[in-house]
Amino acid sequence: STPIVIDTDPGVDDAVAIMLALASPEVEVRAVTTVFGNVALESTTANAGRILALCDRADVPVAAGAARPLVHPQRERAQQWHGGDGLGGRASALPVPAVEPDARGAVETMAAALRASAEPVTLVPIGPLTNVALLLAVHPDLTSKIARIVWMGGSLGAGNTGAAEFNAHCDPEAAHRVLTQADVPVTMVPLDLTLRCPAGPDWLDALAGAGSRCGELAQVIAHYRAAYRARYGMDAVAVHDAVAVLEAVLPGTLRTTALPVEVACDLGPARGATVAMPSGSGPDVQVALDADTGEVLAEILKRLQRLG
Ligand code: BDR
Ligand code: CA
Repeated sequence: STPIVIDTDPGVDDAVAIMLALASPEVEVRAVTTVFGNVALESTTANAGRILALCDRADVPVAAGAARPLVHPQRERAQQWHGGDGLGGRASALPVPAVEPDARGAVETMAAALRASAEPVTLVPIGPLTNVALLLAVHPDLTSKIARIVWMGGSLGAGNTGAAEFNAHCDPEAAHRVLTQADVPVTMVPLDLTLRCPAGPDWLDALAGAGSRCGELAQVIAHYRAAYRARYGMDAVAVHDAVAVLEAVLPGTLRTTALPVEVACDLGPARGATVAMPSGSGPDVQVALDADTGEVLAEILKRLQRLG
């Protein structure tokens, strides 16, 4: 199976994504590294540990990474979607993390996972790209051990944080490094696609009824679902990060278009916007703009249900 490392800021949809990876025999999760984003780093790290504990996966190391963006302060968090604790107010209902975070921290834990792996590792960042940018800066020699990077983030159309998608907006300089200087294949799973995969009431009911772990996950999602209803008047939630993990699990599930992408790093209103450039003006990013969205949602649900 393909070795992967998930870099994450749980986050309700991050929780869905992590559980999807754990439920997928095609991949082996070698580490879960954490980053600031939806909530502060202390919470995202504790949440990652709780999700692994819920799934009885104390064998997967957790390591905390960047608490801040590379250059400028974070402008906003996403508690309105994910709750003050990042897991819809349900973090304390989940089992406490079974092990302490790895003292080496996220960047060195990722580096160690790359070095130790016989096969190249797929990195799946589903939050701000700060840790991945640091990894590429500190360990450029390890890019040969990275098979690909599959990132949930960016948007070619509208953003969800002003002009930008949230993960890009949190650390535009880091996103710029990863999208333009990674030296490894990068797949970007943007908002344009993830918003086309809303999980509706039938999907959520099926999840809630699938067993105790899925039931807990459904309770974690409840606050996010209420936030969608209040904001958009719809009873459906986008499980953004899980769409990226599915592409890492089943490469080719998403249809991509090769485009150079640059990130607006100025301090104006478009900060963090990901802009497709004319081809030839930089390395191509595989931008996932299309998929059979019904299949994507069905596949995610089917796999989560295996967790019981
Ligand atoms: C991204 O922002 C976060 O709130 C989600 O977890 C996801 O990674 C979507 O824009
Ligand atoms: Ca996330």
